[in-house]
Amino acid sequence: MDIFVIRGGNRLEGEVKLSGSKNATLPIEVAAAILADSPSIIRNAPDLRDVRFMGNLLEHLGVKVEYESSTLRVDPRTLSGYEAPYEFVSQMRASIYVLGPLLARFGRAKVSFPGGCAFGPRPVDLHIKGMEALGAQVRIEHGYIIAEAEKLKGREMDLLGPHGSSVGATGNVMMAATLAEGVTVIRGAAREPEIVDLARFLNAMGARIEGAGTPVITIYGVRELHGVEHTVIPDRIEAGTFMVAAAITRGSVRVKGAVSQHVEAVSEKLSEVGISMEWDENGVKVSWDGTLKAVDVRTSPFPGFPTDMQPIITSLLAVIPGISVVTETVYYERFKHASELNRMGADIRIEANTAIIHGVERLSGAPVMASDLRSGAALVVAGLAAEGETTVSRVYHIDRGYEHLERKLTALGADISRQSI
Ligand code: EPU
Repeated sequence: MDIFVIRGGNRLEGEVKLSGSKNATLPIEVAAAILADSPSIIRNAPDLRDVRFMGNLLEHLGVKVEYESSTLRVDPRTLSGYEAPYEFVSQMRASIYVLGPLLARFGRAKVSFPGGCAFGPRPVDLHIKGMEALGAQVRIEHGYIIAEAEKLKGREMDLLGPHGSSVGATGNVMMAATLAEGVTVIRGAAREPEIVDLARFLNAMGARIEGAGTPVITIYGVRELHGVEHTVIPDRIEAGTFMVAAAITRGSVRVKGAVSQHVEAVSEKLSEVGISMEWDENGVKVSWDGTLKAVDVRTSPFPGFPTDMQPIITSLLAVIPGISVVTETVYYERFKHASELNRMGADIRIEANTAIIHGVERLSGAPVMASDLRSGAALVVAGLAAEGETTVSRVYHIDRGYEHLERKLTALGADISRQSI
């Protein structure tokens, strides 16, 4: 098992280039494999455990998937299966993305019911509601979601859930509806840039989707979709992570590839903290600019402050004098990082879905454990600014979503190494 060993205190300086977005690549990989009838080439796909893992699931369904130098080649011509077994879905929840496309292609799909996750319950009721709205019969049997439909039929539906819109349900229904008969209208649709990129990919394949990026998406069903070439958008959560890493180390880092509209809520929060940001067409230069100020953060679906950045900005707020309050409205229990940060000397109290952070002068390095991807990133960022040595265990969580994190940080001057224990 790998760990990261970090000696904190180095200012980060220089330039870092973002990788392609994990959460855009995953549904695009699925759409290329299941909805299209000919091969696709997906460029700027990050070399990540989750991307390879999705490839393995798609190969299990009979598809050919090759990955080389940030390029995925997906050949769907041998697609034959319609079942995503427990051993895949239990390891990666995004496997649920095959539900809609399989249903659209085969008229049936059998997908293991995903369980909870390290940061709390993650239901799939909205995915099921969407498939039912398209005319599918859905039942849960022996831990599997079994969906059947002779022919999917376009319909109007509202996918807004109790915590706002759902990225996964919006993407799943959007993919299924491309091959449905008639017109589908999704109200309460997720507006995330990853949904916009998926729609761009599907439209290039021959789909007719309007409104992606707004709360109402209209999909006019078509008979078939063809493989295409596509370049995935840069990863906005990786962008935010490097922006915070620059800020917490009082450094100066150019984040190449960052798209200002994708990270607007994060940049606004960082400028409220007192971080300086200079944007140009290639990205953003983030620098520490004197005294920093405690702020309050409230997560919400895009264009709000992303839940995936919540653990990471918490690390920064932990070392800013004053009281910051972080409210999590998307995943109420996503606070596993707080107790680990407290082991490093932070003063964070959790009350219901809120973290009350009393900023401390500095953190002190300690052995800590990543419990999921973003909590792991938060601990790495904290370790960069802590006094002495921090070891972060369960690095495999971080490898799910950050391409060459330690290499990129080392190039910026951090003292971080990966060790196998
Ligand atoms: N929800 C429901 N019912 C559903 C689906 C979702 O109530 O059927 C709720 C969730 O419990 C949550 C909210 O709706 O409170 C939003 O969940 P969403 O469906 O948007 O999440 P997701 O599609 O499962 C994606 C990302 C996550 C990211 C969330 C929120 C992918 C592969 N995953 O998950 O990314 O946290 O959106 O932005 O796109 C990560 O990258 O670390 C990660 C966890």
